Amino acid sequence: MSNKGHKKNSEYKKGPHIVLIGFMGSGKTSIGRCLSYKLKRAFYDTDKMIEEREGKTISDIFAENGEKYFRELETQTLREIREDKIGRIYSLGGGTPVSLQNQPLIKTIGTVVYLRIKPEEVWERLKGDTTRPLLQCDDPLAKIQSLMQLRSPAYERCADIIIDTGSKDRDNVIEEILRKLEALGWEIPPESFLNASKSDNTENIE
Ligand code: S3P
Repeated sequence: MSNKGHKKNSEYKKGPHIVLIGFMGSGKTSIGRCLSYKLKRAFYDTDKMIEEREGKTISDIFAENGEKYFRELETQTLREIREDKIGRIYSLGGGTPVSLQNQPLIKTIGTVVYLRIKPEEVWERLKGDTTRPLLQCDDPLAKIQSLMQLRSPAYERCADIIIDTGSKDRDNVIEEILRKLEALGWEIPPESFLNASKSDNTENIE
């Protein structure tokens, strides 16, 4: 992990939340729901928070107000989360960590878990998806590859924990996250490790 030219994560006073970051399709929402069940903490998806507040879908926000406006809403949402003192699990949109303004905010909100995935795996999961405005283009795979190349350093800079998710099933991803949280000093109830991915819903990763 390269921190060159940036403050090390250890220099940031961490808030009480678990923050999931990663590219579109990396499984932030389904892993977040599972962790919520395991750790008995509420789960929030910032895209959903933005949609509820604006009263329209992300696609409509992009189409009607533009991407810049959406990015401002992301920053505003991070600022609000920073004021939330009850430990929760937050999943961020795939583009949120890119902004230099957002990175210190993300690091101070809590322990950041980066779900890393390869472009081809994203493509496999999101082929046919119509809800991600950035992928509604002639060559979505090429777009995924170029965005991933641009964004990976930002994800790595924000991360306290990195998990390679693509080829693993949800059980393994959850177990690895719990072990790494424990290694960072989090108290994880021993029963959380049983049936690692059990949750109160049966959705697959993305
Ligand atoms: C985006 C990712 C999406 C959503 C928006 C933009 C991005 O969230 O915020 O479509 O820039 O990568 P998910 O990562 O939850 O799909």
